[in-house]
Amino acid sequence: MGAGASIPATEEEAKAAGFTDEQIAEYKARKRTIIILFGPPGSGKGTQAPRIVEALETPQLSTGDMLRAAVAASTEVGKKADEVMKAGALVDDDLVAAIIKDRIAADDCKSGFLLDGYPRTVGQAEKLDALLKESDESVSMVLRLCVPDEDLEQRICGRWIHQASGRSYHASNKKPKSLGDGAEPSPENMLDDETQEPLMQRKDDTKEALVERLKGYHEMTTPILDHYKAVVKEVDAAKAPEEIGPQIDEHVAAFKPAAAPAEAAPAAE
Ligand code: AP5
Repeated sequence: MGAGASIPATEEEAKAAGFTDEQIAEYKARKRTIIILFGPPGSGKGTQAPRIVEALETPQLSTGDMLRAAVAASTEVGKKADEVMKAGALVDDDLVAAIIKDRIAADDCKSGFLLDGYPRTVGQAEKLDALLKESDESVSMVLRLCVPDEDLEQRICGRWIHQASGRSYHASNKKPKSLGDGAEPSPENMLDDETQEPLMQRKDDTKEALVERLKGYHEMTTPILDHYKAVVKEVDAAKAPEEIGPQIDEHVAAFKPAAAPAEAAPAAE
């Protein structure tokens, strides 16, 4: 199914477009592909997510990005989340669950979605399961990016982001073109390759906040691996990005979309 292909929104529309009852029944019986991209801060979730989005043609839903957007827009949610996030702590379960509930009901999640950074506690996992159960669905796969803690400080503290696009760079692993050899990274020489706009560092990308983020990850987040143990797949993400991609592709291949009725030829008149 191409990104631009339109799936009839209702059964009536599908019938009007010429789909047979069998095609409609088969499509209705399909469950959404729901993947959780799991890993500690800096493990590469944001780096690898576009690969899965492209393969499955489903959106990446990052609760971190959604919360940062809320903070930037000074919404009520953003005001509640700002200080908590800066300190590297976790935002309230109910608040994040409410954001996700609304988001996964959107039209672009019709065939599935990739959760990045959610659920992060067993409480959030239980809320997600209960929500999915309402539509007789469940999590299809938890893709776990395994990276030892000692690799993460270098990744997190060297990360620079282009805020408008979300493009992510690193002061030594993935330099922007503007950073000359041997130069000390600064807002003046860390510029987005495409727009030449200044890059920024996240407020929680500090050594101090990382200690808190990792504490939260080990104490509150890793227990969800046991919760989903039947569907967890592991990836060795301590390697270079080009060695991680093929491992991800292998696990994702099982969920690649087959031809949907929208692609199948409508029944002959
Ligand atoms: P969130 O935005 O989700 O942050 P995170 O989980 O800490 O993950 P990061 O975005 O920091 O790392 P990443 O794994 O995406 O790594 P990346 O690919 O960028 O959450 C932020 C905060 O929001 C939380 O602390 C919490 O307060 C709140 N929050 C969010 N969701 C919540 C929830 N569900 N409940 C409660 N609170 C919530 O890579 C990092 C760097 O490493 C980059 O510079 C990259 O270039 C580099 N890199 C990537 N891969 C490699 C590699 N293989 N080798 C070398 N360098 C690499």
